Amino acid sequence: MAFLDIEHLEKSFGTNRVVKDFNLAVDKGEFISLLGPSGCGKTTVLRMVAGFETPSSGVIRIDGKDVVRLRPNQRNIGMVFQAYALFPNLTVAQNVAFGMKVAGVPSAQRAARVAEMLALIGLPDLGARYPFQLSGGQQQRVALARALAVRPQVLLLDEPLSALDAKIRVSLRTEIRQIQRELGITTIFVTHDQEEALSMSDRVVVMNGGVAEQVAEPFEIYNRPATRFVAGFVGQLSRIEARVVDPASGEVEIAGARHRLNRPLPAGSVALALRPEVLRLGADPSRELTLTGRVAEVDFLGSVIRLRVDVGHERLSADLFNRPDTPPPAVGSTVTLSAAAADLIVLSA
Ligand SMILES: Nc1ncnc2c1ncn2[C@@H]1O[C@H](COP(=O)(O)OP(=O)(O)O)[C@@H](O)[C@H]1O
Ligand SMILES: [Mg+2]
Repeated sequence: MAFLDIEHLEKSFGTNRVVKDFNLAVDKGEFISLLGPSGCGKTTVLRMVAGFETPSSGVIRIDGKDVVRLRPNQRNIGMVFQAYALFPNLTVAQNVAFGMKVAGVPSAQRAARVAEMLALIGLPDLGARYPFQLSGGQQQRVALARALAVRPQVLLLDEPLSALDAKIRVSLRTEIRQIQRELGITTIFVTHDQEEALSMSDRVVVMNGGVAEQVAEPFEIYNRPATRFVAGFVGQLSRIEARVVDPASGEVEIAGARHRLNRPLPAGSVALALRPEVLRLGADPSRELTLTGRVAEVDFLGSVIRLRVDVGHERLSADLFNRPDTPPPAVGSTVTLSAAAADLIVLSA
């Protein structure tokens, strides 16, 4: 049985159903992200797990025990929020010790645990400082230490990195994941940042309008999105409309030209979705789809060059790796792009 089990979870505020039949089985030690746009119900799910919000219906079990009727302080959960929620009038050490003090842990034991936690987050010497004397990244590490100090069964993180600047955010990602692995603590991480979710998680739950649209490993989510929403929300995507001429051989018509994709397609019309990295410059006999278009934009990003190419009425994104000996095509020039049929994501109409 899963360590954290959520079944048929529902939440309505008045007539507004914000979480709809949400199901999730989390293994012990697993790192799960809830990913979705603002307002899709991520925080509400997390708050129900923590006990700050009562479900309208459904079951939440931790280690086999139904916790829905337990108060937050009876649930053995650690939580970190987006905004720095440290107590401003307490030192770092006092912040980290807070939960243990409430729980009546003797002071010598508390001090040892605080030292252990501060070492874990890489701030062994900052126990005497106050929160205002720390950077944003350091404050969030202390918030993490405070959440972990009481040895929770489950760690809940609600967009803990979104208030930080880009560089710190990326380095703290790795650090949080390392600490989580080291402790083997079952974790749910809420984010609206797809890169965060894809890079950190064992599995990602993509949410839309209170519904979990897909629960899968990052590779699966990105390469085999289950719904149009997931395809569009996670990663860059270009879409081309195609009329299926022969479903069996996958012959399609795109902008007046015929292509044989050699893979079965549904009859009628389909949208073919292309990630920017599956398109290559130039024709290639081993790649079934060849498109010709006009370069509308060239974004030189450094290691990657993102071309925007108009093919018929569609504008496609194509990512090329930078090559010092080969300048990118010029805006206005005509280019040929190719893609392997196996790399196309077929979205039925
Ligand atoms: N206490 C509340 N009362 C009424 N509506 C709420 C309350 N909390 C959240 N909501 C609504 O529930 C929806 C989901 O919110 P939330 O879970 O915070 O989304 P997310 O974290 O994905 O941005 C939103 O439409 C929000 O306005
Ligand atoms: Mg939220």
